[in-house]
Amino acid sequence: MDIETLEKLIKSRRSIRKWKQDEVQDELLKKAVELATWAPNGGNFQGWRFVVVKKREVIEKMADALQFVSDKIASWPEASSWEEDINRYRGNVSFFRNAPACIAVFTAGYQSVMDKVLMARESFDPEATRIMGFRRSAPTAIQSAAAAVTTMLLVFHHMGLGAVWLGAPLMAKKEIETLTKAPENLSLVCLVAVGYADELPQKDRKPVDQVLEFIR
Ligand SMILES: Cc1cc2nc3c(=O)[nH]c(=O)nc-3n(C[C@H](O)[C@H](O)[C@H](O)COP(=O)(O)O)c2cc1C
Repeated sequence: MDIETLEKLIKSRRSIRKWKQDEVQDELLKKAVELATWAPNGGNFQGWRFVVVKKREVIEKMADALQFVSDKIASWPEASSWEEDINRYRGNVSFFRNAPACIAVFTAGYQSVMDKVLMARESFDPEATRIMGFRRSAPTAIQSAAAAVTTMLLVFHHMGLGAVWLGAPLMAKKEIETLTKAPENLSLVCLVAVGYADELPQKDRKPVDQVLEFIR
């Protein structure tokens, strides 16, 4: 693949939030997950796990759980300062109930050998606590899951499917973990909703010079 083709693939991917009701074949979902597992990941630990949900009733229950918690948050007095934004958010948050498939992405905890040393000392050594705090500010397991999700989204796009990364469902983490029968040691990171796109959204990016610096 030449760089122009790759650039076109990367730049034409958009988050899709409206889908046709056509089913997505299991083989495509499985291939996208398989390719996602080729993403870089801390220590090649591969602590990620994926649950593909196609059962409408389960997708709807996940959406209901998120809608419920979003409505609750919106009802709290602190929400009144952002009423318009909150109402817009609440009105859209469970749109993935119409997705033909949702992939729940989980991760197990990961400890590098340095984490093990730091955690053995942090109860009595402030220096170890400080360094472990840096590690916890960007957990390796979450970075790894994010690499997998990014890869999956590009694969879906290449397959002609439209997908969206969903962080909001974390607000209903426990309910979704129960609905997806997640084992105890796994923690939900996000959902990816996917289907055949029924919209063509446009999005831009800041020019690279606004976000890039070199130190030479
Ligand atoms: C970590 C993360 C969490 C996200 N969570 C949501 C979400 O909960 N709901 C949603 O509609 N989109 C979500 N998105 C999608 C972003 O809104 C989207 O990627 C961004 O607006 C850029 O648009 P594009 O993907 O079409 O380029 C999330 C994206 C990321 C990376």
